[in-house]
Amino acid sequence: MRFYLTTPIYYVNALPHIGHAYTTAIADMLVRHHRQRGDDTFFLTGVDEHATKVYRVAREQGLEPQEYADRIAVPWRELPERLNASTDYFIRTSDEGHKAFVRDFLQRMHDNGDIYQDVYAGLYCVGCEAFKADDELTEDGLCRDHLTKPEWIEETNYFFRLSAYQDKLLALYDERPDFVLPGFRFNEARAFIAGGLQDFSISRAGQPWGIPLPWDESQVTYVWADALVNYLSALSYAREGEDLRAEFWPVAHHLLAKDILRFHCVYWPAMLLSAGYEPPKQLFVHGYLLLDDKKISKSSGNVIEPLELIDVYGADAVRYWCARAVSFGQDGSASIDGIRERYDSELANDLGNLLSRTTAMIARYRDGTLLAVDAADAPVDFDALRENVAARMDAFDVTGALDAIWDAVRRLNQYVTAEAPWQLAKDDANADRLDAVLYTLADGLTALGVVLQAFLPEASPKILAALGQAEEPSWARVRNGVAEGVDGIAASEPLFPRIELPSAAA
Ligand code: MSP
Repeated sequence: MRFYLTTPIYYVNALPHIGHAYTTAIADMLVRHHRQRGDDTFFLTGVDEHATKVYRVAREQGLEPQEYADRIAVPWRELPERLNASTDYFIRTSDEGHKAFVRDFLQRMHDNGDIYQDVYAGLYCVGCEAFKADDELTEDGLCRDHLTKPEWIEETNYFFRLSAYQDKLLALYDERPDFVLPGFRFNEARAFIAGGLQDFSISRAGQPWGIPLPWDESQVTYVWADALVNYLSALSYAREGEDLRAEFWPVAHHLLAKDILRFHCVYWPAMLLSAGYEPPKQLFVHGYLLLDDKKISKSSGNVIEPLELIDVYGADAVRYWCARAVSFGQDGSASIDGIRERYDSELANDLGNLLSRTTAMIARYRDGTLLAVDAADAPVDFDALRENVAARMDAFDVTGALDAIWDAVRRLNQYVTAEAPWQLAKDDANADRLDAVLYTLADGLTALGVVLQAFLPEASPKILAALGQAEEPSWARVRNGVAEGVDGIAASEPLFPRIELPSAAA
């Protein structure tokens, strides 16, 4: 099995914020999970450079756009690295390989008779990097997302005959009811298509920053006609000397938020059909993460620096919070203090203390030796958990998968309280029972260490190492009776040490 996952490529007109970290962190959980299950995976993220807003910021800073992009690409590259995202390639739309591929792609659409020249006269929102119809504006004529006044543009552009693809897109949606998830997003995209499609401009005349069109170098590609192609172009040059398209394009999955649904679920499949490619396999459209009920963005003034959060809490905690703060797929409101609360109560207490207590008791009562005994009364059925987590991850239900895992963590905690090994240890007559309880705990933690690899890639190998177990995260190890009997277990260091800051905002 193969699995190819992409995040949107982010605009580099500003530094990354927690909303970008959100999609990337959750994408990594999905990819790592598939890899654990033995899938051959490819994970792509990166940045979108040829936007008008990027051009303007560069100019404001007195820099050539390429120089500006080269500088700001550094912190953007750091984002997936610091999040421990296991990306296979970080694409920049100024990569030579990408630029050449886009020209070829657009030429194919042109050769197919789908591109024509016309005069565009209308309103353009630089925030959205999109042309706006009147019914997409507020009563005062502002962009609904950015609450800014769109600019009037009048120029001769090249247009893509999107209207010619209405029937093909409807047929695609009807044949593949899981083409877009969740279902309500599928319905939204399909209704948009059924409502009639307008051709859209794929080039810009007055802007020097972008990829020149192959048949008319006086125009550059409109940023979306350049950016969307990244999902395919990367496969052609990410690994030197290899073309991964045949392997990975048929299993392409795109992750994105609802702000860019139309570009991904409508424009992109039509562009692919026009250029002679298959549409992607599946798109998952998630909601907005709202902080104090506001979409996190630079304009709303509540930017949370993700790299700073990682400095304070570590990548695992930030990832964990992303998956738990709101139900993935839905819009949801979160508070940044939630990171601290979850860090203390769930990571440090529920999980960290369970490991500390278990290792400390094995060290103390059994001199560090874990006996592999039959633990028939284990409080968690890990076969069921394995199936449940896999099914939820297949449905992109990352929050549900973690809920199920945390339910297992809590059951193990209840089991310690109920079995009270410290009482058992007082009487040698209970020696067998004590061995069984300690094994059940160590075994449960081992299976948890494996299943958590996708979510908490730093803590997971620490859990396994503390218990003297192999760090190999293969999926078949999520089962009861996985832990081996070993010697030398010592009381472990805290998995999530106490953090001294009063609050994340401080
Ligand atoms: N450059 C385009 C995408 C081109 S993809 C071919 C773009 N860039 S963006 O920087 O604006 O990133 C938008 C994406 O960032 C969203 O679709 C989502 O993945 C992520 N998010 C940004 N803010 C977010 C939230 N507040 N909540 C959830 N996701 C967020 O659009």
